[in-house]
Amino acid sequence: MEHRAFGATGLDVPVIGMGTWQTFDVRGAVADQRTHVTDAAFDTGATFFDSSPMYGEAERVLGRTLKGRRERAIVATKVWAKDDIEAEQQMTAALRYFERRVDVYQVHNLASWRTRLDQLQRLKEAGAVRVIGITHYSESAFDDLLRVMKDPRVQAIQVPYNPRQRAVEQAILPAAADLGVGVIIMRPFGEGSLLRSTVTRDALAPLARFGITSWPQALLKWILSDPRCHVAIPATSSPDHLRANAGAGTPPWLGPDERAYISRLAGHSS
Ligand SMILES: NC(=O)c1ccc[n+]([C@@H]2O[C@H](COP(=O)([O-])OP(=O)(O)OC[C@H]3O[C@@H](n4cnc5c(N)ncnc54)[C@H](OP(=O)(O)O)[C@@H]3O)[C@@H](O)[C@H]2O)c1
Repeated sequence: MEHRAFGATGLDVPVIGMGTWQTFDVRGAVADQRTHVTDAAFDTGATFFDSSPMYGEAERVLGRTLKGRRERAIVATKVWAKDDIEAEQQMTAALRYFERRVDVYQVHNLASWRTRLDQLQRLKEAGAVRVIGITHYSESAFDDLLRVMKDPRVQAIQVPYNPRQRAVEQAILPAAADLGVGVIIMRPFGEGSLLRSTVTRDALAPLARFGITSWPQALLKWILSDPRCHVAIPATSSPDHLRANAGAGTPPWLGPDERAYISRLAGHSS
């Protein structure tokens, strides 16, 4: 698995990690099975894990699957609250789930970001947080994201990017590269929607020399071939899918022609 410098944060991150929205919001026996997904992440080196208190049980379940190997993981989670007390409670809970440290602590959807950055900065000064980040899923919030990114406390962003959602190319990715901000890519498969159309083996054949054997791998390589993107976080409930996805985390990377070809396969014109 290739590692990249996570902007100017001093962290090195594997280019493929794992999201936990929906897939880790589970209980009981199903929650126990998620340990196998995390096992596959450690086997393949995809040891960057993203969560949020907005994802129901996901932080708790992720924390449980990391028992005994927390030190070898990079944990990114979020605070998502309008109320300051609730935000403090979320932070206390996350620090319990993740053994007193969150590596990348993000303000989810920029919710009450001014106060949240103050709170996260205090945790950073206390040694409980390594990097502070901000996230937004919606293009309509990218002007705000761009403004908040310039706050010197912000060292990372999380945004959507895939062949059908390319708005970050306009201003967000160039600004992130200029500012030395770490970039996490959410929704690499468009919440799975990009995987619903069938892409044939024949259509993938020209990509074989890049080590691509499946459509999900083609989409991940499309993202990671832009060096401004540091880590993509596909979510999965399947250890086999995780292993297959991790296979896209090594060079050679794609050039502009192959990226344009994948965009066309994904139904995007450029
Ligand atoms: N900050 C925010 O506002 C925000 C918003 C959205 C997402 N996120 C983060 O980004 C992460 C990823 O985004 P996402 O969960 O929306 O969607 P995604 O990663 O684009 O797609 C996830 C879907 O792809 C399927 N999948 C994964 N690998 C596959 C494979 N090799 N073959 C076939 N199917 C595969 C999964 O199903 P299986 O379980 O069957 O594999 C799942 O249904 C989230 O989990 C979350 O951590 C953040």
